Amino acid sequence: MTVAGRLAEIADLGRDAGRGGYSRHLFDASDAPLRAWFRRSAQALDLTVEEDGDANLWAWWGPPGPAAVATGSHLDSVPGGGAHDGPLGIAAAFEAVAQLQAAGVVPARPVAVCAFAEEEGSRFGMPCLGTRLLTGAVDAASVLERTDAAGVTLAQAWAGSGRDTARVGPDPERIGRLAAFIELHVEQGRDLEDRGIPVCVASAIIPHGRWRLTITGEGNHAGTTAMDRRDDPVVALAGAVLAARDVARAGGSRATIGKVQVTPNGTNVIASRVDAWLDARADTEDRVRAQVEVTLERIRDAARAERCTLAVHEESFSPRVDFDAALTERIAAALQPEFGAVPAIPTGAGHDAGILAAVVPTAMIFVRNPTGVSHAPAEGARDEDCEAGARALAAALRDLAGRA
Ligand code: GLV
Ligand code: MN
Ligand code: MN
Repeated sequence: MTVAGRLAEIADLGRDAGRGGYSRHLFDASDAPLRAWFRRSAQALDLTVEEDGDANLWAWWGPPGPAAVATGSHLDSVPGGGAHDGPLGIAAAFEAVAQLQAAGVVPARPVAVCAFAEEEGSRFGMPCLGTRLLTGAVDAASVLERTDAAGVTLAQAWAGSGRDTARVGPDPERIGRLAAFIELHVEQGRDLEDRGIPVCVASAIIPHGRWRLTITGEGNHAGTTAMDRRDDPVVALAGAVLAARDVARAGGSRATIGKVQVTPNGTNVIASRVDAWLDARADTEDRVRAQVEVTLERIRDAARAERCTLAVHEESFSPRVDFDAALTERIAAALQPEFGAVPAIPTGAGHDAGILAAVVPTAMIFVRNPTGVSHAPAEGARDEDCEAGARALAAALRDLAGRA
């Protein structure tokens, strides 16, 4: 088998004909077939599969701990996402285990391949949901009350999928089984393409967060309401989008309003309400907080100018993560014989590795992305680079867990 062959097995699951690419969200129609693929892939390698109380899948090579080396990523996507963000790390993990088994390696410590639930937070607004619950980084009871776009609570969706909400929450015993975690991921930029190398390691994840902005005005008739008598939240939104961009540009940081819901969303209707999500990222937590504060001040002014009100809710905040230096150096050394001296690069993208880094030594391997695009259908990785990624991961696992 190859990594590309493994990804081909799920290529038809969760395709989004309207947006292009993939829309794979927690407990949607693609979720069970993707989990079934994970189980089949694991069983073909004689790995034992279990699902924890937070809907994360674990495939064990050897007993389920202690001192295990875990690797994996996620199977969900953003709306209209690419094929590699998430699934590449799982396909490469199975392929790496297959290569080690074929080479006669007997693990001296357990190895686990993981698929974490709802990493993108696309359905319930909480990125890295599965690992945040697992590690206790979020309060399970309040997360279960979150609703999706259709008003379904996470608790309802959880129970509807046949899972037990009473099992949701931190699992220190499971975390205690782990000695290290490595996530392999498609690079979400062009650094490796520009350097002309197929793989590298990660140094850090910059801090980031999500804020829900609710701008409320007055619904009215598009034809009969004079221009100076409108309380139009969409006009205020225009100010919000520009404020987010301008503040981020001035501060050398990043801000995006990429999701908007207009109520009632009619062509000939002045909207009564707009919900918009601000995603902000910068190299320090203080800079993210300062950037958001200034941005919100300007958005408040924009709302006031249209006689609208603004309510703000912080949906998630992810502090800066510096990956474990000793583990990262050790993985870089394991990659050296085939790939030479690989760089350690920071990323602006969030990952389950960033959540797990708080509780277990964690590192990441990135695979070259020729377009540099991610969270969009143009995201990609050449087949030969995916195979290089699996060999890199196999080298790291062999070094950390293997016995010839
Ligand atoms: C996830 O990929 C994120 O960075 O939001
Ligand atoms: Mn992503
Ligand atoms: Mn990802």
